[in-house]
Amino acid sequence: MKKSFLGTFIAVVIFSFTACNKGGGDEILIGEYGSLTGSEATFGISSTNGLKLAVEEINGSGGLLGKKIKLITYDDQGKPSEAQTVVQRLIKNDNVVAVIGEVASSRSKAAAPICQQNKIPMITPASTNPEVTAIGDYIFRVCFIDPFQATVLTKFAINSLKVKRVAILKDVKNAYSTGLADFFEKEFKAAGGEIVEIQSYSAGDKDFKAQLTAIKSRNPEAIFIPGYYTDVGLIAIQAREIGITVPLFGGDGWESEKLTEGKAKDALEGCYFSTHVSTENPDPAVQNFIKKYKEKYNMMPDAMSFLAYDAGMIMFDAIKRAGSTDAEKIRNELAKTRDFGGVTGKISINDQRNAVKPAVILEIKGGLFKYKETVQP
Ligand code: PHE
Repeated sequence: MKKSFLGTFIAVVIFSFTACNKGGGDEILIGEYGSLTGSEATFGISSTNGLKLAVEEINGSGGLLGKKIKLITYDDQGKPSEAQTVVQRLIKNDNVVAVIGEVASSRSKAAAPICQQNKIPMITPASTNPEVTAIGDYIFRVCFIDPFQATVLTKFAINSLKVKRVAILKDVKNAYSTGLADFFEKEFKAAGGEIVEIQSYSAGDKDFKAQLTAIKSRNPEAIFIPGYYTDVGLIAIQAREIGITVPLFGGDGWESEKLTEGKAKDALEGCYFSTHVSTENPDPAVQNFIKKYKEKYNMMPDAMSFLAYDAGMIMFDAIKRAGSTDAEKIRNELAKTRDFGGVTGKISINDQRNAVKPAVILEIKGGLFKYKETVQP
């Protein structure tokens, strides 16, 4: 009897201690997960660099609710199962008040249910697959979603590229890729286009010649490749090797300075992709961000860096408006985000917890990403 009373007493003390300590006492603990190593390491590095800038800026100007923000970042090595492990650790061991990540949709989909079950708000900076935020009311994003990206690409293909016969080459291991391929197929057909061939690969494959040969035999006017930069370069090189000369185009997954490394630079000349921001945008918010980022990291930011910075700023703004680190209050304030002035433009969160904002099309010229056009929602 006595023992169990003591046990309960200790449990209550420990519980209250952890509860009070949530958010780290004199610090506000924010968790982040991303692919800092592995084949998609530029995704993780660009996003954590962007987010760190946001944290430094807030801490430099006095912090949040009178406290400093402390960022705890874990590497998920680009693996969905590891994403689950580290998010569990962030919530259970580190007691973070909110989570930022992942950028890749497959990993966001794997880890978001853990945030949802524990009622810890999560913002993905760059996962565009619609299913991510559909996981629950604690899951948000600061980027557009792929049905919109498919509309953007359809308009671009029909009006600017002036093509009607398109082939698709998608990555079957990647939720983002299969989703975007399906949305595009639907949109493009609805706009009067024809999908002449659909072929698949798996991330990490090295030989795409069989798929490309099948595509070539159907004589498409362009090839849509909704994959990540890690495979697109090699696909482009092999497409040119077998004599495919038509333009290739893709979505935001192409964006990495590694896309045009080596022989991919020439193979991708005159190809296009849609993404979240153009570094050529003269808007002072964009140019200042580039300047600060370059000063600190000695390299150019990419879409992920911009979006992760915005994800951080939107999270901190919600905590400020909540006046508390209470998870439910933060969630409610996140849901109320309207016309937030981010470095990727004005961000409003809709009732599906997605951001509604324009997309840009970039053209690859001499290995650089040149601004081509903006498509409004
Ligand atoms: N949108 C991609 C996804 O959901 C991730 C991505 C965003 C990749 C921006 C590159 C640039 O998987």
